[in-house]
Amino acid sequence: MQIFLDTANIDQIKEAARLGVISGVTTNPSLVSKEGKADYEAVVKEICSIIPGPISVEVLVEKAKAMIEQAQKIAAWAPNVVVKIPATADGLEATSALAKKKIRVNFTLCFSLNQALLGAQAGAAYVSPFVGRLDDAGHDGMEVVRDIVDVFEYYEFDTQVIAASIRHPQHCLAAALAGAHIATVPYKVLTQMIQHPLTDIGVARFLGDWQRLSGQ
Ligand code: G3P
Repeated sequence: MQIFLDTANIDQIKEAARLGVISGVTTNPSLVSKEGKADYEAVVKEICSIIPGPISVEVLVEKAKAMIEQAQKIAAWAPNVVVKIPATADGLEATSALAKKKIRVNFTLCFSLNQALLGAQAGAAYVSPFVGRLDDAGHDGMEVVRDIVDVFEYYEFDTQVIAASIRHPQHCLAAALAGAHIATVPYKVLTQMIQHPLTDIGVARFLGDWQRLSGQ
């Protein structure tokens, strides 16, 4: 399972890039607005220059025709841009049209197997089930991820499954066990994934033992 970073924060992306484990980045309008930078294109281009992998960037319009027009402009900002299109009927129409033009789509705000199936049929490169938001609504978000992975595998779809709206490290390991191709994680969760108190205790003990010996 690949790890993408779910943020539009440049410092976090640079920090994560240094760790060498990030294969891509996903953003959304809320994440970009959190950074307080109104120049969407400039932010996206900077992210695309830091991480060479796929960078998901969401359209800011709702109707199919407008989505298709805007997606083509966004896709031209950098070769590694993937356009995020919401899992609506208009989004489906836009995804089909964009896939025919060889523009990669991340079919986002996906909350059911049916939405994911339609996204894959339309030619989306990725579908993004929102695990945390499904959990928030009293569903089992990871069960939806598992179902999508199983069905895509059974029918041999090329579309990759991104476990999104990841809130904690437990979500990451469950996504890996469910067979998700990718988990897109907030920076905080990435840092939590590497932490274990027994590792810290072990490092302190090894170094302490070594210092005692070298101090003799
Ligand atoms: O990848 C989707 C993500 O940005 C949504 O996360 O925590 O707002 O549900 P959240």
